[in-house]
Amino acid sequence: MNIILLGPPGAGKGTQAQRLEHDFGLKQISTGDMLRAEVKAATPLGSQAQSLMERGLFIPDPIMIEMIQGRIERPDCKSGFILDGFPRTESQAVALDDMLRARGARIDAVILLEVVPDIIVDRLARRTNADGTKRADDAPETVRKRLEVYAQQTAVILPYYEHAKRLKRVDGMQDVEAVYHAILEALGLNAPQETDGITQK
Ligand code: AP5
Repeated sequence: MNIILLGPPGAGKGTQAQRLEHDFGLKQISTGDMLRAEVKAATPLGSQAQSLMERGLFIPDPIMIEMIQGRIERPDCKSGFILDGFPRTESQAVALDDMLRARGARIDAVILLEVVPDIIVDRLARRTNADGTKRADDAPETVRKRLEVYAQQTAVILPYYEHAKRLKRVDGMQDVEAVYHAILEALGLNAPQETDGITQK
């Protein structure tokens, strides 16, 4: 199964993708994490990405499309993947369908996590990394810019998926567990059972 998790910044895409990866063996592909790894490794792409990300702006489509193309071809995506942060523009959505069609694959479902802006600003103001640092793009003024860019460039691709009857809307303002169960229901999956610490799928 290949899934897209869509939603505004801070909607919970990463949180839910990690859980799906753990429970169902679908590979989480986070373009934000891939870009942050480039920044950390001080690659030329990393330095270009850093200045755009810190301003809440998108990295150009051709770069992102090439990045995803290379990533989904890797063996760990063979049993299925969860895209977290891609596509973010109409060009990316169309390119994704084209590249999957060429491989005889497809996106099975697109989950949209719906969260209102006030809750997002509050969540991201409180978020810290594992080492206690904050993401540079979580500053409230940058979060507002990210929300603006989402509305202008990402929300407009929803009709593309709605038209193909692939879009499923989930209330992302419930607690993390309730959101997860709503996603499973939308995907027609059963929650794995925990028995003596062993997860049974
Ligand atoms: P990216 O890293 O993808 O950022 P984002 O989409 O803005 O998403 P976040 O990671 O901020 O939030 P999330 O929805 O994953 O929520 P999370 O689970 O972390 O991208 C960063 C930047 O990279 C972009 O701005 C752009 O510049 C660039 N980029 C990336 N992909 C690109 C592309 N395809 N094209 C062009 N540019 C691209 O949760 C957030 C917080 O809320 C956490 O603290 C979490 O614990 C908490 N939380 C989660 N769920 C709940 C809940 N149900 N209730 C309460 N709290 C919750």
